[in-house]
Amino acid sequence: MKEKYKDDKKSSSLRVLDLFAGCGGLSLGFHNAGFNIVAAFDNWKPAIEVYQKNFNHQIFDYDLSILRKNYQIFREMRPEIIIGGPPCQDFSSAGKRNEDLGRGDLSIIFSEIVTSVLPQWFLIENVELFRKSNKYKEVRKILKAAGYGLSEIVLDASLCGVPQKRKRFFCFGELQGTDESLEPYLKKRLADKPMTIRDYLGKKLEIQYYYRHPRSYQRRGIFSIDEPSPTVRRS
Ligand SMILES: C[S@@+](CC[C@H](N)C(=O)[O-])C[C@H]1O[C@@H](n2cnc3c(N)ncnc32)[C@H](O)[C@@H]1O
Repeated sequence: MKEKYKDDKKSSSLRVLDLFAGCGGLSLGFHNAGFNIVAAFDNWKPAIEVYQKNFNHQIFDYDLSILRKNYQIFREMRPEIIIGGPPCQDFSSAGKRNEDLGRGDLSIIFSEIVTSVLPQWFLIENVELFRKSNKYKEVRKILKAAGYGLSEIVLDASLCGVPQKRKRFFCFGELQGTDESLEPYLKKRLADKPMTIRDYLGKKLEIQYYYRHPRSYQRRGIFSIDEPSPTVRRS
């Protein structure tokens, strides 16, 4: 990103906190949609440095696992929405799939922060398999007990304007809302067909096929530009 994203000070836009913000992908989406990100939190220096280069608001270098339910700082920021993508490695098909290695508990911490602050809305994002995990069952129980109505959906990036096949689970919560209330709005905006690389880059690529080294020999390595890219794990 070349320029810093200017913080939106419009009083009408809802105040958002981004937990486990990384380099700011989720923050950027909310910023572009007109929300006012007031602060972000992460504890990995390289990601924090990138985040600082991209945004003007503060990112706090905080280990969110050691707060011992001392969540006053979040309450003082008066967020109307809390968003976050807690670490997914322990749920991911690309990882060890042992949700008890420790990082899985950060999702529970996310739900504890939300239910301590009680913003009108929250959004938690994670890999698709998170939805079937015991940690998510626990997260769900905590959020439901606090009175949140939940809209839970798996979205494929290639149906959301990105030329990449990448599925992610999203749970939106509304305080005193009803379950599944956002689903029609989310589904209505999905494309009818996946976005291909050609759809995105047009004629700039003077090739029809490209090679990506397969992680497993059950997967192919040659891809057409008339399909979405497989999930990009790193550049
Ligand atoms: C899946 S990434 C978040 C990606 C981000 N939502 C985005 O859109 O770019 C998870 C983040 O959690 C952070 N994290 C892991 N453990 C943490 C902890 N104990 N406290 C704070 N942040 C932590 C990692 O540094 C990483 O940036």
